[in-house]
This record gives sequence, C-alpha cells and structure tokens, in this order.
Amino acid sequence: MNILFLNGPNLNLLGQRQPEIYGDTTLADIESTVREYAGDKAQIDFRQTNDEGELVTWIQEASEQADVIVINAAAYTHTSVALRDAIAASDVPAIEIHISNIHAREEFRHNSLIAPVCQGQISGFGQISYLLGFDAALSLKKCR
Ligand code: DQA
Repeated sequence: MNILFLNGPNLNLLGQRQPEIYGDTTLADIESTVREYAGDKAQIDFRQTNDEGELVTWIQEASEQADVIVINAAAYTHTSVALRDAIAASDVPAIEIHISNIHAREEFRHNSLIAPVCQGQISGFGQISYLLGFDAALSLKKCR
C-alpha cells in the first residue's frame, strides 16, 4: 500500500505562517507524525511544492507509484482547473484535506474546484486532518 501525500503552496511555511489559523506545527513535524502513525501499514511518500505544474506532474505520475493520493492543494484548491483535470484524469483516487475549516473562512475558500473529482473532503481538524486522510486512504483501499 503506497500513499502519496501532496502539499501545495505556502504549506512549507507551516509553523510560522498564521499560527492562529494553521497552528505552530511545521510540515516536517506533520510528516513525522504521519510516518509514525502509518507504521508498517503503508509506505508514505510526502511532498510539498509551491508550483502548480509540479503538482499536476506528480498527479500524472501517481498511477505508477501510488494507490491513493491525499492532497492538501492549499490555495490551488480554490483556483486550479489544471489540478482538477489532473485528478479527474488519474486512475488513482484522491482525498482532499485541509488543516483549517475552509467552509468557516472567507467565502472564496468555500468553493473547492477539486472536491467534485475527489473521493471526499476532510477539513478543519488541524494537523489531525493528515491522520484522518491516512485512515480514509487505508479504508478506501481495503473497501475497494
Ligand atoms: C488550506 C486552506 C486553503 O484555503 C489555504 O489557501 C491554504 C491551506 C488548509 O490546509 O487549511 O493554504 O488548504
């Protein structure tokens, strides 16, 4: 079982970026927590980029490498038709996650362009969203 975690723009700044919204945990801390939580249940590939095209390429390449994608597309969630098309074109199921509750924030964050092509959305649990994403990925694979 291989789970690919993809992280979009500005998530490299977690820990210093708006801690009142995103907490004070760094992305490296989150990655460690996910790896510890996963144990030997799954192989974890954990990546971050600020580049929309790189995310698209990683999604295109995922069918060779991953059983499930867990994606925090960050701001591209709300803007990227390219990302949505890449997920729609992929045979790898994707689970959308967010640290903050995007539905409780500014109106422009309420709409996710990728939600309709993902299996489902996890939003608002802080860094636990990543662990819930992992659980969802594992269950998805088992129940398919
Ligand atoms: C985010 C929510 C997005 O609206 C925002 O642009 C982010 C992070 C989250 O994890 O809460 O960068 O995806």
